[in-house]
Amino acid sequence: MKTVRLGLLGCGTVGGGVVRLIRENASVLATRVGAPLEIAKVLVRDPNKDRVPGLERDRITTDAAAVLDDPSIDVVVEVLGGVEPAKGYVERAIDSGRSVVTANKMLLAVHGPELVERAEKAGVDLAFEASVGGGIPVIRTLREALTSDSVTRLCGIVNGTSNYILTRMRQDGMPFATALREAQDKGYAEADPGLDVDGGDAAHKLVVLAMLAFGARVPHEAVYTEGIRDIEPIDHEFAARFGYTVKHLAIGQVREVHGKKSVELRVHPALLPAHTTLANVNGVLNAILLEGRALGPCLLSGRGAGDLPTAVSVVADVVDVAGARLSGAGGRMTRSVRLAETHLAPIDDVEC
Ligand code: NDP
Ligand code: HSE
Repeated sequence: MKTVRLGLLGCGTVGGGVVRLIRENASVLATRVGAPLEIAKVLVRDPNKDRVPGLERDRITTDAAAVLDDPSIDVVVEVLGGVEPAKGYVERAIDSGRSVVTANKMLLAVHGPELVERAEKAGVDLAFEASVGGGIPVIRTLREALTSDSVTRLCGIVNGTSNYILTRMRQDGMPFATALREAQDKGYAEADPGLDVDGGDAAHKLVVLAMLAFGARVPHEAVYTEGIRDIEPIDHEFAARFGYTVKHLAIGQVREVHGKKSVELRVHPALLPAHTTLANVNGVLNAILLEGRALGPCLLSGRGAGDLPTAVSVVADVVDVAGARLSGAGGRMTRSVRLAETHLAPIDDVEC
């Protein structure tokens, strides 16, 4: 039986989780794909770091060409992070006819539409379930389950690190810096944690969600973005006294402005009534409420960051794109994304 050979770009928190999950679930994954998955090459910066147990040293390389120019690699999995060199590597993989799985929401927020177009032209898949919501199947829900409906609004807690920090500050009186350190130690935070606590990561995720939910092609810098860095213990105390909880939210909705359809996208802390569902999503959990015109509200919740929850999404994408490749049906996922230039609504006249 042919093996599906994977080239892994990056082996940190998420890459390590991917290696573990593929090893632990090898036989069931082989059945689901129709062939065994083999982690053929792994690109890292430091070849001497201790990696996940069971990963053979001879699979590790610091030479991107050893992964990208190896014709025996079938699928490339990008879990490096950042825009460059990730973008160049993803383009090389697509141009050489390989499907790509990525967890990189920054890359998608900045270059998603052009990468989708490139993958479509090449007839390969670009899959990115892990880019939003960690282990929550929100991309799949938008891409597959809700294609028969129009999503009119979405609202969610999409940054696990920020939610973890806010929860530890409120429930345990922990200082901001200590809670951030804990989130980093647990592998939840970005390599640059400023992306988490200043809202940039949530804004990137909102742009990715808006692509699928509203078909919106929007520049990520245009999203109103505020993080949790300035939230102090007294904010939690006052919020609780008046029956509220402070949460960091990402909100997207379709609006009519002067008869023209536009979308409103914003990321900021908000006061939620303490009895509401989102107010009680704590720790690293994320929750995303999608509202369909026909469906009404639909809430997805689960672990939004961390090695194994995120690996669940990455490996599910690997199963899909590898299976599609084996059956000659590559490119279906890419064709499901349809984007149009989108007008961004002003947000100064709306309520949170
Ligand atoms: P880490 O920093 O833990 O891992 C990054 C990996 O990429 C490391 O193995 C690093 O090598 C390697 N790497 C980085 N730059 C280069 C380079 N230029 N050349 C070669 N190797 C490189 O990041 P995460 O695993 O946390 O995140 C990876 C991606 O997944 C990011 O896009 C992130 O936003 C996304 N993500 C993360 C989640 C999480 O919970 N952590 C959840 C969902 C998505 P070395 O080990 O040698 O330093
Ligand atoms: N740093 C991100 C978070 C990882 O905390 O949500 C998951 O995308």
